[in-house]
Amino acid sequence: MKTRITELFDIEHPVIQGGMHFVGFAELAAAVSNAGGLGIITGLTQKTPEDLANEIAKCKTLTDKPFGVNLTFLPGFASPDYPGYIKAIIDGGVKIVETAGRSPEAYMEKFKGAGIKVIHKCTSVRHALKAERIGCDAVSVDGFECGGHPGEDDIPNMILLPRAAEVLSIPFVASGGIGNAQQLAAALALGADGINMGTRFIATVEAPVHQNVKDSIVAASELDTRLIMRGLRNTERVMTNVAVDKIVEIEKEKGADIAIDDIMALVGGVYPKVMTEGAMDAGPWSCGMVAGLIHDIPTCEELVTRIVSEAQEIIRSRLAQFA
Ligand SMILES: Cc1cc2nc3c(=O)[nH]c(=O)nc-3n(C[C@H](O)[C@H](O)[C@H](O)COP(=O)(O)O)c2cc1C
Repeated sequence: MKTRITELFDIEHPVIQGGMHFVGFAELAAAVSNAGGLGIITGLTQKTPEDLANEIAKCKTLTDKPFGVNLTFLPGFASPDYPGYIKAIIDGGVKIVETAGRSPEAYMEKFKGAGIKVIHKCTSVRHALKAERIGCDAVSVDGFECGGHPGEDDIPNMILLPRAAEVLSIPFVASGGIGNAQQLAAALALGADGINMGTRFIATVEAPVHQNVKDSIVAASELDTRLIMRGLRNTERVMTNVAVDKIVEIEKEKGADIAIDDIMALVGGVYPKVMTEGAMDAGPWSCGMVAGLIHDIPTCEELVTRIVSEAQEIIRSRLAQFA
């Protein structure tokens, strides 16, 4: 299945694993890349640029295929050492960066100077167009269904993807809510050049997270995610749990007066507790509605091969009969 995305990134299948905090370690990125997709290490999960350099070096011992690094540009308050992380990426010889959050504009010259291809993840057509304008090579168009931060426009992929196809010239992948072959075939039909998956890749053998996390995704239905932090304009789709119920309650109570301090104790430092220790009620963790379509824990190789080969079968038989 050759697309503009497989050509751009020199990968076999048009399947990308999006950066995920405390999930996107070298083990997962290498497993996805070895399966013919594009694995991505999550830059900011590494405490320092030196740690990221070590994670990149580790990934290189696990795969000789292309892989990328995610750099998430956080809103306002926290300011990681982005120049340091970018130096680690460049020195590590990584040639693909997935950016997300705020615009990567300030760093495009650095990336381009080092021959790095940039795929920017965004949740609206206007941000996708801006990414194209500032020189990004591709975009990941993340619909309202997605795990993590869906933005504030609430446009699902059935609308967002064909809108992106109407206006973009650069290649784009469909992101958010995707986990199976039917959806890959649909994404291609809607104009995308491939798919980006987050939640689906957590429930794989190689994802280096606690078994409880994988089991909870398999057990969840499409009704089990919640949106939090809307009042802070930092909306996040998370798996429901005791802590999330509490946050939703506080948000209802405070209304428009909500401030980050009102929920900080419930959202701070949660990821290692959930992902590493398997404490599933420790706090909110990103999870997509696609959990309702995830029923097993395959290897990355089994998953990617299954999605691509079944999508080809859908196109060959089910769709061809209507042509
Ligand atoms: C647990 C988890 C952590 C995530 N962390 C990040 C992150 O640090 N940076 C980022 O750009 N996206 C992050 N994402 C978003 C994913 O890269 C991807 O865009 C999203 O999961 C796609 O939606 P899906 O989960 O429905 O496949 C995260 C998603 C999950 C599920």
